[in-house]
Amino acid sequence: MFSELAQAQAEDRLFGFYMWLFSKPPPDSQNFIEFEIPPFNRLLVTRDPDHIKTILTSKFSDFGKGPVFHRIWKPFLGDGIFSTDGKLWHGSRSLIRPMFIKDRVSDLAKFERGAQAFMAQLPNSGQTVELMGLLYRATLDITTEFLLGHSAGSLDNPELAFIKAFDEVQKTQMRIAVMYRKEYQRGIKTLEAFIMPFVEKTLALTAEELEEIGKSDKDFTFLHGLASFTRDPKVIRDQIMNIPLAGRDTTAGTLSWAFYELAAYPEKWARLREEVLSTVGSHKAPTYDDLKNMRYLRYTVNETLRLYPALPYNTRAALNDTTLPGGPGRSDIAILKGDAFADPSIFSPEWWYNWQPQAWNFVPFNGGPRICVGQNFAMTEMAYFMVRILQRYERLEYRGDWGHSFTRPISSRGPRWECPSPCSRLWEKREKEEEEAMRDDEARGLSWHPPRPPLLL
Ligand code: HEM
Repeated sequence: MFSELAQAQAEDRLFGFYMWLFSKPPPDSQNFIEFEIPPFNRLLVTRDPDHIKTILTSKFSDFGKGPVFHRIWKPFLGDGIFSTDGKLWHGSRSLIRPMFIKDRVSDLAKFERGAQAFMAQLPNSGQTVELMGLLYRATLDITTEFLLGHSAGSLDNPELAFIKAFDEVQKTQMRIAVMYRKEYQRGIKTLEAFIMPFVEKTLALTAEELEEIGKSDKDFTFLHGLASFTRDPKVIRDQIMNIPLAGRDTTAGTLSWAFYELAAYPEKWARLREEVLSTVGSHKAPTYDDLKNMRYLRYTVNETLRLYPALPYNTRAALNDTTLPGGPGRSDIAILKGDAFADPSIFSPEWWYNWQPQAWNFVPFNGGPRICVGQNFAMTEMAYFMVRILQRYERLEYRGDWGHSFTRPISSRGPRWECPSPCSRLWEKREKEEEEAMRDDEARGLSWHPPRPPLLL
């Protein structure tokens, strides 16, 4: 099961894999599957909203990342917020939380600098650009500037040692079996070599100097915030390592998918642009309130997260003997007046005007005490980037291979949302066809990559 999961992930077939998995259990338990897998005694996979709510809130202390997860991630993330539980996690959360309060996030200067550096890389109208790669570099630069007061500068220099090391460490980390390779260890050293001089410089400041900087929005960084709570360089190093991992791919991936979908719907692009132009005009930088008030923009980001959740699955280990609510716990299907049984696999920000997901059915940032601490930062950053691009470009066009992208079982594309029982055969047939197509491509020397989202003009 783990190797199938890893393979599905490597081939961008995660959604298909989980749909297939959930087509297996008996009809009275379609949201919950149990496996016996040595060396783990039991592995439980659930998509039941009641289970998720229980794990993340009412029985929060019974579940955690667990000791295995902590050990695997330790060389990279140390004892930082992502990989720890209990007191260690709580300490990290208390350290980091103040850096994400509204006053810090709503200072939009960092997003404006990031957006301008990004826009400077976009070509003139009519030319093609590989947007996704640029977005990954832009969000890394913004995150490092927020953390250290110094951008990694990857937009200007894609060959930067820091970005290469970050990619290498992240990629290797995902492949548990080949961990601790030399490149991985070297990568971690490169990341530390970039980060530690900033840590040392900050630790050289006196408490009074730190307090003074804390009063200024302009000079204050995450690092200053950490240093005013702890003088331990290892604690600071660990927290700093965790944030780019949390903040880069999530926002860059979501923005890439948003533009990918919007390229298919010129009328939605026009509607969004109309909202942006009537709220902020064609040049003015948006304020924090502008971003909050643009409903269609917010719904577009929500809709992207609904179809392409940046964290499509999550793991927890039981830390104590405990229980989960029994029964199938299936939620009612909401049918709205005038609904024509809209297809939920279709990208449609319009849904959100009249529809509220039921509690615990839509949790892109999780919930409970461990809810994404960067949620507001992420939503502001994504909205900001979208506004700046919408202001500049009247039209967006995808210049990849639509047919190719659409027939691949990428994340939530493909025959999704079908009821498992009558459709599972269809699903399996579809999977077989796709496997064949992939083998065919490989035989012709064409390995498949996720679609390269789009290109502007
Ligand atoms: C589309 C954007 C994002 C999504 C969908 C997202 C989603 C999530 C989710 C689901 C978790 C919970 C993970 C778990 O419990 O295992 C999480 C945790 C976290 N996120 Fe985000 N995130 C996003 C962006 C960001 C950004 C931009 C930052 C920081 C700059 C950030 C910082 C964090 C941190 C530090 C945690 C750990 C919280 C904890 O364990 O207490 N995230 N995120």
